[in-house]
Amino acid sequence: MKKKFIVAITGASGSIYGFHLAAALMKFPVDLFVMMSESGRQVAAHETDFNSGSIADYMGKTGGPFDEQASIKEVDPSDFFAPIASGSFQHQGMVIAPCSMSTLAAISSGITDNLIHRAADVCLKEKRPLILLPRETPLSLIHLKNMTRAAEAGAVILPPSPGFYTRPKTIDDLVDSVVARVMDHLGLDQTLSPRWGDES
Ligand SMILES: Cc1cc2nc3c(=O)[nH]c(=O)nc-3n(C[C@H](O)[C@H](O)[C@H](O)COP(=O)(O)O)c2cc1C
Repeated sequence: MKKKFIVAITGASGSIYGFHLAAALMKFPVDLFVMMSESGRQVAAHETDFNSGSIADYMGKTGGPFDEQASIKEVDPSDFFAPIASGSFQHQGMVIAPCSMSTLAAISSGITDNLIHRAADVCLKEKRPLILLPRETPLSLIHLKNMTRAAEAGAVILPPSPGFYTRPKTIDDLVDSVVARVMDHLGLDQTLSPRWGDES
């Protein structure tokens, strides 16, 4: 059975993390479900060459080539009838990259205003992997408490803070060093970024 993953991009700075992650997942024979919040679309259009069109088209132009068996399906974040809204839909993990403080607050409070919040809420109740890449600086006590609550409920808090011990040369190197950690957590082998102690 093909593995299924969900990637959501929200309106925090750093949609490039979500795009790189989606591309890295599509190198495997997976079914990928992608969602973008309205703010996520606006911020991505401001920060990247994404033009607010289809995520699949943008991925095809920028992230390929992909595994022949990989599929990508864009889901409307207002569509509560989508399969990923239900706990009965089986998948292997959801990542929110980047995760805004607003989306973090919704998840840590159990408020499911849109499908991104709902799918994350389902991960927590069904004990499926939920990885959040929260982005804000500095962090208020509210942000910190929301991260603690989400972590206590089972989410992995994986801040998009790249390591510099690999001597990154480009922005892509920095982004991929974070995406590599996400892929490790999803149990997918990757060579995006050198591992510490790996001479090869
Ligand atoms: C250019 C830009 C950058 C932003 N960066 C951040 C950020 O890094 N972190 C954050 O929590 N919100 C950030 N915001 C604000 C969010 O987009 C806003 O709170 C939005 O309501 C989040 O909604 P969402 O979680 O549904 O995407 C930014 C907004 C803009 C316009």
